[in-house]
Amino acid sequence: MFDDRRRTIVVVGAQWGDEGKGKLVDVLAERAAWVVRYQGGANAGHTVDLGKKHFVLHQIPSGILHPGVRCAIGNGVVLDPDTLFQEIDGLVKDGIDVEGRLYVSDRAHLVLPYHKLLDSESSASKAIGTTGRGIGPAYEDKVARRGVRVLDLRHGERLKELVTQGTEHANAQLERFGSKKRVTVDETITLLASLAERLLPLAEDVGLVVHRAIKSGAAVLLEGAQGSLLDIDHGTYPFVTSSSTTAGGAAIGAGIAPMAIHGVLGVVKAYTTRVGAGPMPTEMDEALGARTRELGREFGATTGRPRRCGWFDAVVVRYASRINGLTDLAVTKLDVLDTFDKIALCDGYEYEGELHRDFPADLTAVSKVTPRYEWMEGWKKSTADARKLVDLPAAARRYLDRMQELCEAPITYVSVGTRRDQIIGL
Ligand code: IMP
Ligand code: MG
Repeated sequence: MFDDRRRTIVVVGAQWGDEGKGKLVDVLAERAAWVVRYQGGANAGHTVDLGKKHFVLHQIPSGILHPGVRCAIGNGVVLDPDTLFQEIDGLVKDGIDVEGRLYVSDRAHLVLPYHKLLDSESSASKAIGTTGRGIGPAYEDKVARRGVRVLDLRHGERLKELVTQGTEHANAQLERFGSKKRVTVDETITLLASLAERLLPLAEDVGLVVHRAIKSGAAVLLEGAQGSLLDIDHGTYPFVTSSSTTAGGAAIGAGIAPMAIHGVLGVVKAYTTRVGAGPMPTEMDEALGARTRELGREFGATTGRPRRCGWFDAVVVRYASRINGLTDLAVTKLDVLDTFDKIALCDGYEYEGELHRDFPADLTAVSKVTPRYEWMEGWKKSTADARKLVDLPAAARRYLDRMQELCEAPITYVSVGTRRDQIIGL
């Protein structure tokens, strides 16, 4: 992806999340100076398999596993300081050096215990099937202008004012939800006082630092979380997360100019998965879904929930390609389809007698469409050891060719297993 002209690259999920962004970021980070997370929070679960050991990162950019790379958590992230330090300590225990090369935007908003409580006590969150990490409530406070930012930890009075507002709001919400639980200002202030000492030294004007890195010609990777169809504006609203997961969000959430971005890599699975509620037109029937789930080990990296599985949906990915301006595609988990006799690709939706090739905004339509499938022959052969395109069976190459044609973006990477080395760079 990186070359003399392309120095700043965004990695986004082009489906409903869990596409394998962590692995691609890990691979690309080899050549990057910086990796920056730009939205979401501890709802993310980015899995990186180094062979000897595998890591699941929630808030820390996946670039951290490369010793020379600097990592930053951008202003667009909602940061859970409590779990951040658990994550740092876990990495340090595994011999990964973190402090000294991890920066946190001083503008990032904090996820506080009351946000997590609200997320778990709210029936609306349950209906959507959120991860319960307090993401929605933290972004709500941000937009309502009562959020607590990292830099507020420097100002005791201001901090108390904000936490008081947040606490009052949270308690009113809890009452409305019919919950008996309540929170106090003091418990939050005490927690923050204990964390501030460790968090403030990491605080940095991330937008400025990244801007300087870009100006100096450094390779910068912007790591998205979740997927395009979970984007607050472009996703299957209201069954979405609360942030801008798409490439536009990368500029805002890292604090850099849109024109500073030179390439956008969309990561897709060779099929589709979704965790949580909401429509998914190409969802497989129970038996096939269960088989795919087993083969692909499709269980949430954050919550352990079984993921819903479906055929590859080119309507979804073409849509993601358009709204992100995908310059490249990475197809992951091709090997999961190795044993299938026939493989389906959805290239349009039938709804009320019409064929839709563009993803509809209206969720009522999305939940009622009939996917139109193209059936392709399976390759019935292991792809796990393929390292070049020519190593792949002809039927697998045909499947990929058709995929890139339908998605209107060229495939640059194909991943054939979880390990770092199991990748074909085209
Ligand atoms: P929230 O982000 O926890 O508010 O959850 C909102 C929706 O996004 C739910 O359907 C979650 O399952 C989904 N979601 C959030 N984070 C991820 C992720 O990292 N991978 C896949 N789905 C996610
Ligand atoms: Mg994940």
